[in-house]
Amino acid sequence: MHFSNLVLAGAAVVAAAAATNTTAGDDGKPRKMILDNDWASVAFLPILQALDAGWDVVGVVGDTADSWSLQTSLHALAGLELGNLSSCIPVHKGADYPLLNTPELFQLWSTLHGKLPWEGAFAPENATAEQMGGEPTSGDPRRISKAAFFEGFPKGQLAGELAAAWMVEQVRANPGEILIYSGGAFTNIALAVRMDPAFASLTRGLVVMGGYIDSVLLGAATGRTLLEADYVSDINLKIDPEAAKIALTADFPAITIAGNGANQVFADQQFLDELVEVKNPYTTLLHEHTDLTLPYWDELAMYAFLYPEHVTKSATFYLDVDTAWSSPYYGNIIGYQKALKPAAQKLQKVNYVLEVDGDNFKDTIKRAAQYPKKCPL
Ligand SMILES: *[C@@H]1O[C@H](CO)[C@@H](O)[C@H](O)[C@H]1NC(C)=O
Ligand SMILES: *[C@@H]1O[C@H](CO)[C@@H](O)[C@H](O)[C@H]1NC(C)=O
Ligand SMILES: *[C@@H]1O[C@H](CO)[C@@H](O)[C@H](O)[C@H]1NC(C)=O
Repeated sequence: MHFSNLVLAGAAVVAAAAATNTTAGDDGKPRKMILDNDWASVAFLPILQALDAGWDVVGVVGDTADSWSLQTSLHALAGLELGNLSSCIPVHKGADYPLLNTPELFQLWSTLHGKLPWEGAFAPENATAEQMGGEPTSGDPRRISKAAFFEGFPKGQLAGELAAAWMVEQVRANPGEILIYSGGAFTNIALAVRMDPAFASLTRGLVVMGGYIDSVLLGAATGRTLLEADYVSDINLKIDPEAAKIALTADFPAITIAGNGANQVFADQQFLDELVEVKNPYTTLLHEHTDLTLPYWDELAMYAFLYPEHVTKSATFYLDVDTAWSSPYYGNIIGYQKALKPAAQKLQKVNYVLEVDGDNFKDTIKRAAQYPKKCPL
């Protein structure tokens, strides 16, 4: 139906990751980041944004959300190769399946509680669509659809296939330094949290795209177009609700979440034309393939984290995720103020982004794409 505007990354050589620490944070510790996302052909911007802002990208993880994790990991690799970044940024593949959910359960749930306008990796398998450039959905999670790589199929190799274990090792080795960015589902982050009880607290924090509130109902119910309903279909949480709950209730030092606020900024033709005034593989691809009907979801989440001084409206509240399979809100978030939060659970207080400086946002993504950092970082 459509492609998402996500980010990507990529990497190759198993050695990789010569992390220099040029950029200490306010706490004097190096600013490092791991980006976990359901990467696609034109999804690399968050990586370039992080590099542009002086963060050391330790590596990239591909998860299952918009498509299966093997396909999204290879997109990450291809995206890094476009900028010759794969020799210093490794890509690790995440788990194929969510913790409990499967395409069969997801479709059964949909028949009970209504279809999601965007079903991501759990949309029914469609060989014709795949041959025409669609990403693999349902069926065998290990198959690759080369037709979907309009950025070019990667030449190099993934650094590993056990992303959760790799993240645990990185965070243990660099306590207090690594920010976890989550632009897709939470499966690998939840696995890391369960594998190592200290994982969350030893990171710098968690930044999230997804987690809509209120407008889920409005978007789905008020007779708007399917595309508008798609803006709040929340596949990142709803494809793996149990993982979302584990990750979003873990004791990360800080959690920034861009749900409703992530729908604020769209590309337009004029912006893409300005972008490609500086020609390189990234600006060319963005110019040719950015979907003007979709917001800059993942990019806005990254921006809100990198430039908190440009977040113009936000809220803080205690966040839970509905994990009752029988609920129509299975995978949706619930917010509480302190006085009313459930006593029998330990929920985290999150910083919920509602609005950013949209013009400044566009300036930063333009700069990040026009003048991408080079290896060694
Ligand atoms: C890297 O950062 C740490 C923590 O601030 C500091 O102790 C160390 O000297 C830095 N290393 C380099 C090579 O700058
Ligand atoms: C990547 O490296 C190749 C070969 O050295 C070079 O031709 C190309 O311009 C580089 N691309 C970028 C984006 O730096
Ligand atoms: C499969 O994809 C093709 C091409 O996009 C589309 O025309 C067709 O309707 C799809 N089939 C189903 C059953 O959705």
